[in-house]
Amino acid sequence: MNPSLVTDVGLTDAIFHRRAVREFSARETEPDSVEQLLVAAVQAPSALNQQPWGFVVIHGRTRLADYSQRVKAFLVATYPTSFEVHSRSDLYEDPHYDILHGADTLVVIYSKRGRLHPTEDCCLAAENLMLAAYGQGLGTCPIGFARPWLDLPEIKRELGVPDHWVAVFPVVLGYPAGPVAPTPREEPDVANWVWETS
Ligand SMILES: Cc1cc2nc3c(=O)[nH]c(=O)nc-3n(C[C@H](O)[C@H](O)[C@H](O)COP(=O)(O)O)c2cc1C
Repeated sequence: MNPSLVTDVGLTDAIFHRRAVREFSARETEPDSVEQLLVAAVQAPSALNQQPWGFVVIHGRTRLADYSQRVKAFLVATYPTSFEVHSRSDLYEDPHYDILHGADTLVVIYSKRGRLHPTEDCCLAAENLMLAAYGQGLGTCPIGFARPWLDLPEIKRELGVPDHWVAVFPVVLGYPAGPVAPTPREEPDVANWVWETS
């Protein structure tokens, strides 16, 4: 790994300014950068430090464009039983819609069964990865819609993923085409705040 690739942005900057990026430039993501993101991902806390994550990295726009078509076909074929397809079914039937947003790289975080809180652990790893990517000038977008397809036994076999791994968090990445407008956030919804004098 080349430590000089690390671009140091402040943590607050990363937390407040990371955005879901859905348009990417032609600049190719470097494998060293992805390696650094995986190292950042595995710094996440995990229950009993079980570190129940595993990764698949796929780079290449042609391959990802093919995956996009296959994910859409799967979603349409499972309609209406697939919850995810309902709100965006028009897009999935559009042959020009790229569910992976034209990114050059897809990282899938899989959990390993039989651990204590594998899903939570993997989501924490995903956030680390996305914040670290922001620090490198890379854009990321979680692709929840691709998760069921990536969890199919035949797709796991195709990707060389062990049968017992469970797809938790797919995320595409690449260099952003341009700035992304901030998305709104609601104020924290605190049902109760008990603050007794110690
Ligand atoms: C679990 C999860 C799944 C998501 N799935 C998708 C997806 O399939 N496609 C997509 O374009 N964005 C997806 N997103 C991105 C969200 O739409 C985005 O994070 C949200 O609108 C807030 O915008 P921001 O990330 O720019 O702050 C997903 C986000 C999360 C956390």
